[in-house]
Amino acid sequence: MAEADLCPDPVTTLTEVGSSITIHQELDQILSIIVEKGARGTRSQVVLIEVQPNELASKPELFACHGVGAETRNHLSQFIPFSRRCYTEKEIVFIKDYRLEKEGAVPEFARSQRIKTLTAVPLRWREKIVGAICFFRTQKEPLTRQEKNFAAALATQTVIAIQQAELVLERQTGYFKTIKILANVIDRKDSYTHGHSARVMEYALMIADRMGLKGKERQEVGDGGYLHDLGKISVDLSILQKPGRLTPQEWERMIIHPQVGAEIVSETEALKELAPIIRHHHEMFSGGGYPDGLTREEIPMGSRIVAVADAYEAMTSDRPYRKGMGREKAVKELRRHAGTQFDPEVVGLFVELI
Ligand SMILES: [Fe+2]
Ligand SMILES: [Fe+2]
Repeated sequence: MAEADLCPDPVTTLTEVGSSITIHQELDQILSIIVEKGARGTRSQVVLIEVQPNELASKPELFACHGVGAETRNHLSQFIPFSRRCYTEKEIVFIKDYRLEKEGAVPEFARSQRIKTLTAVPLRWREKIVGAICFFRTQKEPLTRQEKNFAAALATQTVIAIQQAELVLERQTGYFKTIKILANVIDRKDSYTHGHSARVMEYALMIADRMGLKGKERQEVGDGGYLHDLGKISVDLSILQKPGRLTPQEWERMIIHPQVGAEIVSETEALKELAPIIRHHHEMFSGGGYPDGLTREEIPMGSRIVAVADAYEAMTSDRPYRKGMGREKAVKELRRHAGTQFDPEVVGLFVELI
């Protein structure tokens, strides 16, 4: 490898790490970029990050590493006695020769990779040392001044990345609490259909998984399913629970629920992306549904999924005034309306799963 490859410009590298923190959402992904860049920027064979739980990160003994195989990762805790020396010394610690050190066993990867030195750089969060980023090298010499400065800057970026991930986690926890509260509101309003929202979510997620949806997209389908009927809180119970046909006036009241639900979630920053799924869950695939009479791909995919999940759940569950229909009959109904009411592709996938 050329020298230029081994020692990239530290400013460029740190800028790249900085932008990875703003681009990537997953902490593991960011930390693996940090350890990889750290190895190149300091000419180290192995780079590890260790963070104390509860101080900064909720994940216990958070590790990221570069330069060791998967089988070694289980034994990473062996190096903790060495890395934690920088906790007490509160500065960069350089260990010249493991074999002369008393604490802990010499980590197996250090032995097998002929590692000679370890430089442990403390991760500082406010006044505390909360972890370390460790650079293992086969060279005997300590890091150069420039490499040390680079390592210290990388340590700061590591702390920022972890702190940011913790904030995201906190926000998500708040988000899930909000979802639960809202879903409870729907269930309390109409105890006849108790559990409908949760089952629609379950079916919607089955379809999403079958379609291979991942991450945020998958979650929105599930949460959209959970909250699809949120707007029913604005509809009178006498209408919601009416066993017979609705009068035109009652129907008018009933069909505003997708719009109302979408408006409610739009007002919450964390939920506003669910608004289109909720708004369009009563659109019909060939047009003529409500509120906007959209057709085919104009209808968000999440709404097309929820529509099938919703209809199946409604058909198969018991109501005080009627017994739910069996699977066979409900599947037949879905098939009969595939292409008109429902997206035929979604129906095709769902009936295979159910
Ligand atoms: Fe609905
Ligand atoms: Fe529903």
